[in-house]
Amino acid sequence: MNKPLTVALPKGRVLEQAQRALADAGLNLRLDVDDRKLRHEAPEGTVLVMRNHDVPKYVELGVAEIGVVGKDVLEEAAVNVYEPVDLRFAACRMSLIRPAGETGPIRRVASKYPHVAARYLAGQGIDADVVHLAGNVELACISGLSDAVVDVVETGSTLKANDLEEVDVVFESSARFIVNRAALKLRHARLKDLIDRLRSGVQ
Ligand code: PRP
Repeated sequence: MNKPLTVALPKGRVLEQAQRALADAGLNLRLDVDDRKLRHEAPEGTVLVMRNHDVPKYVELGVAEIGVVGKDVLEEAAVNVYEPVDLRFAACRMSLIRPAGETGPIRRVASKYPHVAARYLAGQGIDADVVHLAGNVELACISGLSDAVVDVVETGSTLKANDLEEVDVVFESSARFIVNRAALKLRHARLKDLIDRLRSGVQ
């Protein structure tokens, strides 16, 4: 019997899909997703359920050996973890968004992803301030708080409902399987097997 792994998973929609991907790869955590409990003990592992932006930290610091999180969150966190598998679900785009038809200068940009936004703007040679907001960031550019926002577009319905347009795609995002770097060395056989199974599951 393998020593159980500790897994960091984000609450919300990704939780169920992440569990399914792990179960298909042989790691069955049998978690009741409706439960309000934050730590779940299963025979094959301990699951820590948290806000998606916290998953990279738990894995980088080794509290969890493995985790599942969106590429969008991973890019923002800029942590030192191993990212061996693109699980393909939770697909979305990180985009630059403006009110439809707006072409004036971009001086202020709001985002829930301030590091991603700042890197993107620097790369484009746009000299703008970044305002870090907690959510519903599209409101910033329809209320005049900012000239644009950098945010996630999934179905496009938020853009449509608020008369906004996607001006540029910063990068494509999807759920990623991440691994603590020290754990990868210490528990190499177990984690290599899980990575291989997850990889064949997405093919
Ligand atoms: C995300 C994102 C957009 C929206 C995009 O927000 O920040 O607002 O979903 O999805 P769509 O293209 O399918 O409309 P979320 O619902 O996670 O809420 P938040 O902005 O409060 O974080």
